[in-house]
Amino acid sequence: MKAFSFASGQSVLPPTVVAELCRDLAEWRDSGLSLLELPFTHADFGDLLAQAQGDLRALLGLSDSYRVLFLQGGASAQFGLLPMNLLGSKTGVDYVETGHWSRRAMAAAAAWCDVHVVAQGDGVSLPATWHLSADPAYCHLTTNETAEGLQFHHIPETGDVPLVADMTADFLTRPISVERFGLIYASAQKNLGVAGLTIVVLNAKLLGRARHGVPAPFNYTLQADAGSRINTPPTFAIAVAAKMLTWLKANGGLESVGAGNAHKSAKLYAAIDADGFYQCPVQPQDRSLLNVRFHLPTLHLNTIFLEESEAHGFLHLQGHPSIGGIRVSLYNAVPEEAVDALIVFMDDFRRRRG
Ligand SMILES: Cc1ncc(COP(=O)(O)O)c(C=O)c1O
Repeated sequence: MKAFSFASGQSVLPPTVVAELCRDLAEWRDSGLSLLELPFTHADFGDLLAQAQGDLRALLGLSDSYRVLFLQGGASAQFGLLPMNLLGSKTGVDYVETGHWSRRAMAAAAAWCDVHVVAQGDGVSLPATWHLSADPAYCHLTTNETAEGLQFHHIPETGDVPLVADMTADFLTRPISVERFGLIYASAQKNLGVAGLTIVVLNAKLLGRARHGVPAPFNYTLQADAGSRINTPPTFAIAVAAKMLTWLKANGGLESVGAGNAHKSAKLYAAIDADGFYQCPVQPQDRSLLNVRFHLPTLHLNTIFLEESEAHGFLHLQGHPSIGGIRVSLYNAVPEEAVDALIVFMDDFRRRRG
């Protein structure tokens, strides 16, 4: 049976990337070894890391002021590592509270410093303005709230205060002006491959501020100096990311991939808004292009929708446990064909059950 996954993470991968991985798992470039057996100290792995770094820099248009770190621990580890690495002599940080993931980030940071909430969303829209506190070490933003289906489409100004962004759900899904950010972090398993790799892109100005005792693999300055190889990096996840970066380049870079993502989600939102049967509570201006959330008229219909859609090969549509309803995650590698097929199913379901 043909199946389409709309999981919020691990996302699907492009079939060409999976095929290449199968080949490399069997044997890496006539080496007699599997990709999984490639030592991180070997020149081949060094080349692979350099290629991934170069492609990422080119896609994002990074200037020499920015460093790229290939780390482990997921975005969740970064929640605590941000204050440990960035506070320096300051005592407070600013957070924009917009939903599930920004609250997680705030809770972890609160173990290390004063967390000021500078604006709050209401779960269906994003705050338009906020006032920074007197002297924060940084201001933190979750650019896409995966659970609520919210996304910032305009990045707010924070003046001299470094803007730190959790881009786990929308990293490399659209063009961005990196200069607007002091630091960007993202787990790889949504738009850049598989779990196990966390990318941190940061302005070199923010290095040298880590508190004493931050474990070396999580110390931004030490990892920047060591080229992300202070200890064994997640070699397989980096190899997958390298292939995803090649795929993104081959698909026209972030302008073109971003246009494709906008197109996929626009089709789906139009189908949801077609009449009152499916309801998306998120305000149109703040709707996520990556996590499309909607509800059916009753909980019973919601359950039937999930059962029937799964039987038809539409997988992982259950909403986030804290939100309920349906969530359709449309990361970079989800093909338009999957969205079209889901819309046909939704139309049919509405005709039969509406
Ligand atoms: C916006 C956002 N931040 C952080 C995380 C946590 O990522 P990880 O599980 O890799 O730590 C997620 C996971 O879904 C997310 O969507």
